[in-house]
Amino acid sequence: MKKYLFCILFISLACSAVAQTSLTWNSIAPGIWSAKVGEPDKLNFYTVAGVSPKLDALTAMPSVNFPIPQNEITSEVIDHKTYLHFPLDEAERIFGLGLNFKTVEQRGRIMRLHMDHYGGIDNGRNHAPVPFYLSSDGYGVLINAARYIDIWVGTAVRKDSKHPPRVRDRNTDKDWSANPYSDNVEMVVPADGVEIIVFGGPTMLDAVRRYNLFNGGGCLPPKWGLGFWHRTPTLYGEQEVLREVQQYAEHKFPLTVIGLEPGWQTRSYPCTYEWDKGRFPNPERLLDSLQTKGIYANLWMNPYISPDGELYKKILPYTASHTVWTGIIPDYSMPQAQELIAGHFSKYLLDKGVSGFKMDENDGFDEWLWPDLATFPSGNTAEQMRQTYAMMMQKMTAELYHKQNTRTYGLVRGSNAGASSFPYVIYNDYYSHPDFITALINSSFIGVLWTPEVRGSATAEEWLRRMQTVCFSPLAMINAWADGTKPWSYPEVEKQVQDIANLRMQLIPYLYTNYADYAFFGTPPIKAMNLVPGFNSAVSTVPGTVNSTDNPYAKAVRQEIKDQFMVGEDLLVAPLFAGQKTRTVVLPQGRWYDFYSGRYVGEGEIISVTPGLDIIPVYARDGAIIPMMPPVLKISKEKLPVEIRYYGQKENSFNLYDDDGLTFDYEKGKYIRIKLNVLKDKRGKLKGTVLIPKGANPWSYSNFTWKFMTP
Ligand code: GAL
Repeated sequence: MKKYLFCILFISLACSAVAQTSLTWNSIAPGIWSAKVGEPDKLNFYTVAGVSPKLDALTAMPSVNFPIPQNEITSEVIDHKTYLHFPLDEAERIFGLGLNFKTVEQRGRIMRLHMDHYGGIDNGRNHAPVPFYLSSDGYGVLINAARYIDIWVGTAVRKDSKHPPRVRDRNTDKDWSANPYSDNVEMVVPADGVEIIVFGGPTMLDAVRRYNLFNGGGCLPPKWGLGFWHRTPTLYGEQEVLREVQQYAEHKFPLTVIGLEPGWQTRSYPCTYEWDKGRFPNPERLLDSLQTKGIYANLWMNPYISPDGELYKKILPYTASHTVWTGIIPDYSMPQAQELIAGHFSKYLLDKGVSGFKMDENDGFDEWLWPDLATFPSGNTAEQMRQTYAMMMQKMTAELYHKQNTRTYGLVRGSNAGASSFPYVIYNDYYSHPDFITALINSSFIGVLWTPEVRGSATAEEWLRRMQTVCFSPLAMINAWADGTKPWSYPEVEKQVQDIANLRMQLIPYLYTNYADYAFFGTPPIKAMNLVPGFNSAVSTVPGTVNSTDNPYAKAVRQEIKDQFMVGEDLLVAPLFAGQKTRTVVLPQGRWYDFYSGRYVGEGEIISVTPGLDIIPVYARDGAIIPMMPPVLKISKEKLPVEIRYYGQKENSFNLYDDDGLTFDYEKGKYIRIKLNVLKDKRGKLKGTVLIPKGANPWSYSNFTWKFMTP
């Protein structure tokens, strides 16, 4: 009996100890607040990323109030786990929460955010399991914990819910649902505490901008990074690489970066990071020869170190308890490990002219990665290392290049919160064209970049459709590591493939400016439609598209849009897939024009288009000013003329960004913005002007001509 009473007492004490508590919020930057629950881990996204918020740009944003009812965000720590509860409005839509491939909206989903190679299901396991969600109410929430986080996004219904679902009887009510309405987001973080960071808006785009600025701003790639990339087949040697480059020139096809896959090293899986002298007898000669041709070299690698390399013995004390493919796993959270790798990379790779890396296999799969019981000499857990390892590699290599005052742009298979400023683009082995576009859209919510890289294709049509998409992405690349495809591998569409790659090169002044806006203002260069201000709640007023009971446009903008996206502020891209002849495009409010012809296509409505195989539909916003350069085959120091295309009738301006395209001198103010203005004269006629700041001499551009596209 005594024992029984004691149990009751203990249970009631335990219950009161875990009562939900509301939190104390501190403003940590303009429009950004943090609250701490319990004892957060020492290692978190920001201790790993080591970035400083861009306070100047944050200060220039509109001031906002805390966006969520504070007393409705509660938490408790139970059994070394932190439980978190956030409120949701009825109409609220939730985006983000990792690099999902099939879904854009996350309300109604249950996930475990876990670093992994994407396995075909949006269950939280992916290449960037970023615990950041964005609300259509115009705010964002980040859980700053490098842990596997369980999350119920508007699925769990609490007994004490403020807005409970209606009780329905399944016997009699046809509207009964197995998933009744839920008014919260709930999470379990397996840690004794956690930091929560809330980002204000007022729009969703503003919340993303604040998040990216808090991460130090987005990356600004070197200009050549925005050109065209080709990765050669595994085990290619010097002569084959040079022949590939030569063939690009012969086919008059742009090429700015050549990527070497496994085979440049003496060993791979695990790696030595030492040139294989059989295939590459004289790496300096190859790199010099590429440099003279204006081509940048990028090297594939993975983190696991082979016993046959010179790094092995030195780094052994700073490696984990386990191996991957018999290679040792450096503890990248230890300065000693980083120094050894950085020293090796500098001496053998960077100093010889290697422009960057493709850092593979730092995401998953469970079957071959270190297990969760692996230990690391730093004392960080295997789970924490799994969630942040790829980010540590990004930071270390980005810093190496920064020290040399040379920009890099590379590829990585994993990333996480806080990494926006690192110059890396995520890729993977999954290969669904539609899902690649959904991932492109999702990348814009979570501060990462993604490339829908092109590999082989079943048909010429698929090849061209994929090439069209990749040329409107952060990294335009053919990855021929396995099948040796070339842009001209499908002769029926060689010309069209060349045209789209040329268009990519022509758009560089526009793209580069959009990247500068990512770096300086946090605005993602590629964006989901949902990030267009006003888009999510728009209602069409176009006569003929509405009737008294139905507004199909309003319905369309409330549905997931997974197959069209914005490039910069002014271009809407709507790709087609193999087999598709016709598609619909949801145009945001305002007038829109066909990019190629300048003709008016519609405003705030759904249009249907049948563009033909040669065309990827692209639309320009009213007033769009798109600076373009000639379709050069490489990026050099030569100053180029700019053709400024203008669409529609609206007065507008565009701040064309220019700098040396190569170094970090822009961080010290060595850049200019050239103002491109379109104004109406007294008679209402549109006139374009170009305003170069006084005394400035542009690095990249020689003269400007206007082309008014709209007939
Ligand atoms: C994969 C990677 C591919 C290619 C290949 C080389 O892991 O995703 O893009 O690099 O390794 O073995």
